[in-house]
Amino acid sequence: MSELRDSIHGQWSGRWAFILAATGSAVGLGNIWKFPYITGDNGGGAFVLVYLLCILLIGLPIMVAEVMLGRRGRRSPINTMYHLAKEEGRLPTWRLLGWMGVVAGFLILSYYAVVAGWALAYLSRAFGGGFEGITPDQAEGMFVGLISDPERLLAWHTIFMVMTMVIVARGVRGGLERAVRFLMPALLVLLLILLGYAMNTGYFAEGMRFMFQPDFHALLYRPDELGIMHFTWAPVMVALGHAFFTLSLGMGAIMIYGSYLPKQSSIVKTTGTIALMDTAVALLAGMAIFPIVFANGLEPGQGPGLIFQTLPLAFGAMPGGAIFATLFFLLLVFAAWSSAISLIEPLVAWLVERKGLTRTAAAVWSGLGAWLLGLVTIFSFNIWSSPEYQFFVRCADTEAGEECSGMTAFAVLDYLTANIMLPLGGLFIAIFAGWRMRRASSVDELGVGDGWLYRSWYLLLRYVAPLAVIIIFLNAIGVLAF
Ligand code: TRP
Repeated sequence: MSELRDSIHGQWSGRWAFILAATGSAVGLGNIWKFPYITGDNGGGAFVLVYLLCILLIGLPIMVAEVMLGRRGRRSPINTMYHLAKEEGRLPTWRLLGWMGVVAGFLILSYYAVVAGWALAYLSRAFGGGFEGITPDQAEGMFVGLISDPERLLAWHTIFMVMTMVIVARGVRGGLERAVRFLMPALLVLLLILLGYAMNTGYFAEGMRFMFQPDFHALLYRPDELGIMHFTWAPVMVALGHAFFTLSLGMGAIMIYGSYLPKQSSIVKTTGTIALMDTAVALLAGMAIFPIVFANGLEPGQGPGLIFQTLPLAFGAMPGGAIFATLFFLLLVFAAWSSAISLIEPLVAWLVERKGLTRTAAAVWSGLGAWLLGLVTIFSFNIWSSPEYQFFVRCADTEAGEECSGMTAFAVLDYLTANIMLPLGGLFIAIFAGWRMRRASSVDELGVGDGWLYRSWYLLLRYVAPLAVIIIFLNAIGVLAF
């Protein structure tokens, strides 16, 4: 038995506080903004299926492991990994895993706050009744107008970052816990209202077919610059990456939330509840959005602007739309807020533990850094949006002359963090918890005995999850290209 350890940063008031906070972290822009747009980009049903499999077979077991490591370590991820490695007689270098997480969270926050800023901008629009009777062209103009204006983006980005840092500075109970108590249920209600609207567009069946009828050809074959279809494994990597992103997995956020979890709470049950709620919100968001896309003759694969160009149409057309729109974007901001605080929490906890900073100073410094890096994302939508400021640019001769396209700095940041760093972090969490930690330690910490539940988890964690991540990685970088 391990002795009962408390985190120096405080503790949740109980199991439900943890569930709410972790759900607050998990449910965010990933579910409502990112999931629909990457589903649209990647052809629909088959992508959703792969994503669900990734959640169930990879995300869930690793999430249990991450919470478990956090509760056993009771420190910031870096020190948790260091102490657990020592306790288990392993190399102290395991602390690098914590480091990678801290870096990933910092990088993600830098662009997350920019997109959350879009939600803030739309909230102010909605409040002024700005969507009334809006046409698809006007909705597009509104979005493009926003992202091509660096000053407006900067203003909203700054406001969101300050909001985040205020909560983080207040600490575990005062700040994090209180913020999420009533937000999640309210968000769910608003999504159901949107779903009701989507059902009445006459295109609900089409939306459902797009989301749930798997077409693997649409997933695995992409046209190149000349329109020739090529096999690609990349969308599977995106689905895997998103499973980690949406569950806030692989970078220590869930680990540190686990470190505030009281000893007697059941990790397996709470984690299952969180993953279920997270998945439900994403699917609901998709089911609400795609019928609106089809009803207005829009393109599902239009990229990061998808919800910002479709939802105003719905709100603009429904009775009482201004109120619902205001509520919706308010809740989206809150969902983003409760996620953002978890992205920076590992860094802040580490600064407090190791550098002896106060929570406030730690929050200010890390927020300032992420804010500054956010400029890269802001500019990648406007002054740096042309190919000369892009990465991995490829050009092709077309009838209209030479056309080049690549990845913007924002796309690179997103890809690097979500699709590479998080799965890698998850892989090492699985390896540590499944192979380097004594079995007796995980039996003790999970507290569900040594029956079928434990054994199935252990099997998934040791074999299925790591192998799946490795296979997807190798395929995506073309080592096993077939
Ligand atoms: N899960 C959140 C979302 O879907 C984003 C997020 C919060 C996150 N904390 C994280 C992603 C930690 C990765 C790691 O919006």
